Amino acid sequence: MINVLIIYHTQSGNTEKLARAVAQGVNDTENAYATFKNASNATAQDVRGCNAFVICSPEYFGYMAGAIKDFFDRTYEELKDDQRIWKKPYCIVVSAGNDGSFAHSHIERICKGYRFKKIQHPIICKGPVTEEMVRKCFDLGMTIAEGINAKIF
Ligand SMILES: Cc1cc2nc3c(=O)[nH]c(=O)nc-3n(C[C@H](O)[C@H](O)[C@H](O)COP(=O)(O)O)c2cc1C
Repeated sequence: MINVLIIYHTQSGNTEKLARAVAQGVNDTENAYATFKNASNATAQDVRGCNAFVICSPEYFGYMAGAIKDFFDRTYEELKDDQRIWKKPYCIVVSAGNDGSFAHSHIERICKGYRFKKIQHPIICKGPVTEEMVRKCFDLGMTIAEGINAKIF
């Protein structure tokens, strides 16, 4: 079974709605399941154990959520030289009021340091969560799971 790890943080629920839609897309795919983790509880072992992962963060003060940064801070030393996680496929979802580009670019920069492999452009959602945003996130989950099943990623 393909395991897609969804790491998220939320305060008012927007990012969680998007993250749950990604998870739903994964879970609706044959031979795949989503592991849904609040960033505060996500560990290096979660990253080792997944086939791909999605970082879902709000943009706060022109940066990723502190809990997402904390996840990177806690896992970098343990993972950076571990060849098993090099080229691990990942995607980014950002929920923002009106921008989102800063959270995305900072997350991407950190992911380069781990040598993770970006497999799709980020989904950046501005303002309240709409049905279209939810659908895009659902499709992302399905695309990742199917792409890994088909050995495309
Ligand atoms: C403390 C704080 C800082 C924020 N800073 C930004 C920002 O820099 N850029 C932006 O576009 N939106 C900003 N926002 C808006 C949030 O990104 C947006 O409301 C997002 O959907 C919140 O996600 P959440 O409901 O998962 O916490 C900020 C919100 C908060 C609470």
